[in-house]
Amino acid sequence: MSWQLWNRVDEFVGETLLDSDPVLEDALRASAEGGLPPIAVSPAQGRFLQQLARIHGARMILELGTLGGYSTILLARALPEDGRLVTLELNPDYAEVARANIERAGLGGRVELRVGPAQEGLQALIAEGAGPFDLVFIDADKSSTPGYFQLSLQLVRPGGIILVDNVVRDGALVDPDTDEPGALGMRRFHELAGRQQVQATTIQTVGVKGYDGFTLVLVDGA
Ligand code: SAH
Ligand code: DHB
Ligand code: MG
Repeated sequence: MSWQLWNRVDEFVGETLLDSDPVLEDALRASAEGGLPPIAVSPAQGRFLQQLARIHGARMILELGTLGGYSTILLARALPEDGRLVTLELNPDYAEVARANIERAGLGGRVELRVGPAQEGLQALIAEGAGPFDLVFIDADKSSTPGYFQLSLQLVRPGGIILVDNVVRDGALVDPDTDEPGALGMRRFHELAGRQQVQATTIQTVGVKGYDGFTLVLVDGA
């Protein structure tokens, strides 16, 4: 078992199950040309995100960490015509690339991109009485995930879901010797979620993005 095999399987999944998607391919090309790091969700994971939003019937989506808007486009495509997606991005240069990608995807009317630290963005949304959101996708700076999760709980409706990306990080999640802030953040996030009135589980993943995983949180009270 090796990353070469994981890559081949992801390629096979792409060839057999995922249609060629010029809009997404253009978004990735523009992101690379803009110097953005190649850390968007994989095509297979992106399809999963879109399906999850569809299955859940999400009309209001919140995303933390836009990058070039790849996951934003997939999530926004799952929305009905009158649905809305708010996405928070710290880096104004990334946000500019994302804005153009989202416009080219024809989703500018459904997506609101706010530039600034996600922590402040979340506090502003709470102060505005925004939401409630049906789905929150947490995919920004990993060490801040516990705080983002706690604030998100104030914005998600009962029965809503919070999906957290990159929680396993090559197994650093459980490495007692790690001092990687992201891994420590994800460990604290698990401990926190375990104490909340939520149902959560973590699924480990392999593929073109290496060995990682995501946590799916279902907020009780529906
Ligand atoms: N969701 C994207 C990938 C996001 S990568 C996709 O799958 O397509 C993580 C993003 O979080 C980067 O764009 C980074 O600039 C952003 N980020 C880092 N720290 C942040 C912060 N404090 N607030 C908001 N965004 C942040
Ligand atoms: C990183 C961020 C991500 O959202 C991701 O999916 C992979 C890597 C990172 O910051 O390194
Ligand atoms: Mg991610």
